Amino acid sequence: MNTVFNKIGLIILLLFLTILIPLGIVIHEIFQTTKDKHLREETHELATQQAYHLNMMEEESWLEIGESLSEEYSREIVIIGSSGQIVVNSGVNNFEEYVSQDLTSEGTYTTPDDQSFYFSSRKVGDGNSVATVYVFSPLDLMKESTRDMRNALILSGIIAIILTIGLTWVIARNFTKPLRRMDEAAKKMAKGKLDVTLPVRSNDEIGTLSDSINELAKEIRHYRMTRNEFLSNVSHELRTPISYTLGYSQALLSGLFETEEQRRSYLNIIHQEANRMNFLVRDLIELAQMDENKYALELSFVDSIEIAEKAIEKVSLQAEEKQVHIHTNFPKKVPKIVADPIRLEQIFLNILQNAIQYMDKGGEINFTIDNDSDSLVHTIEDTGPGISENNLPHLFDRFYRVEKSRSREHGGSGLGLAISKQLTELQYGEIDVSSELGKGTSFVITFPQVNESSKG
Ligand SMILES: Nc1ncnc2c1ncn2[C@@H]1O[C@H](COP(=O)(O)OP(=O)(O)OP(=O)(O)O)[C@@H](O)[C@H]1O
Ligand SMILES: [Mg+2]
Repeated sequence: MNTVFNKIGLIILLLFLTILIPLGIVIHEIFQTTKDKHLREETHELATQQAYHLNMMEEESWLEIGESLSEEYSREIVIIGSSGQIVVNSGVNNFEEYVSQDLTSEGTYTTPDDQSFYFSSRKVGDGNSVATVYVFSPLDLMKESTRDMRNALILSGIIAIILTIGLTWVIARNFTKPLRRMDEAAKKMAKGKLDVTLPVRSNDEIGTLSDSINELAKEIRHYRMTRNEFLSNVSHELRTPISYTLGYSQALLSGLFETEEQRRSYLNIIHQEANRMNFLVRDLIELAQMDENKYALELSFVDSIEIAEKAIEKVSLQAEEKQVHIHTNFPKKVPKIVADPIRLEQIFLNILQNAIQYMDKGGEINFTIDNDSDSLVHTIEDTGPGISENNLPHLFDRFYRVEKSRSREHGGSGLGLAISKQLTELQYGEIDVSSELGKGTSFVITFPQVNESSKG
């Protein structure tokens, strides 16, 4: 099966075998060489010992020595007397036939019945009567222990392979378990089931990946929730103007009015509601463009005092109607900031209009511009009703209105501040609000100061 589990298992097993097999061969070779060397040394030593003993004894007692050596050390001994005849042969078959051959002083010798020996010879005596003693060590002795060693090696190899397979299984299973879980989670998410939470058990790549999948699920959940909320808000906002427009146009069509004044007032309502829909659609398009980074800003170095004055002029009529006084506190000159003049005016207008709209008759608005060391701070303060603390964190959310009925009365859909915030941020500024119920609200819009010489 082409699974990660099998691949990991196979890799570990192959790695293990590539280490184990050469290691076994090396151990086997070392053992054999050591054993071989040991046997040769022992044979030489025994031959020297025997030659020494034989030298001190009469030829008649040599037979005895040969037999005792053979019994004591499991070695064979052959003594060739000074006249060339075999005096002692403790058990090297057919050696007589080969005695005429000129055997070297040491080497290996195989009898016709396939018994192999390692032998070593020494001269006994001197002058005319030189005998030779041969000590034969059967190679079977060595072969046997080598075989034992090989069997032990093979056995331990088999045990090691079985253990490795077991261990590999455990490792591969543990390793692939989170991968399988992620696979299941991703498939679940693809089917739209987003209640996915993977356990993050380590801070390695696998842990990070699980964490990322959790984040992704959370993000999609959030996206889905806001999308649904957004759609229901949009349809809710459209429903009222549509039903007004339908209702009043139907009334007009059916002639359900008595006076010309009533007819005009119906038409006026239709016009207002169409206007409201127009603004709503415009705002939604703007927000969508900003979300997709497709909103084109025309940034340049602008004088925010000039723009503030223009905005104040535009709301002056509205302010007058409500007997609201707008006080300005602007320095003579301020450093220019980088902004889109039309969008900056839109932000000021939104906030000034809100201040006038939500205020009772006869209030005050203070518009201040401060030149901070590295930023330009615009503060618009009003003496309106203020906003309670629990409403403040949501004020810049789309469609958020503090008093739904009241702000609708003013024609608001709750998008003005959301757009203002996004516009400010697109121009590298920040917008903040503070408020106290019954006292008033203060919006602070800050833009960083830029060195005009860097223009280009
Ligand atoms: N200066 C203020 N004083 C008191 N409440 C305010 C003030 N400015 C905004 N609010 C409250 O915050 C809400 C959100 O304002 P925002 O400008 O985003 O929406 P809106 O005025 O309702 O609609 P829109 O501006 O889209 O026409 C308002 O509905 C109002 O309840
Ligand atoms: Mg508004």
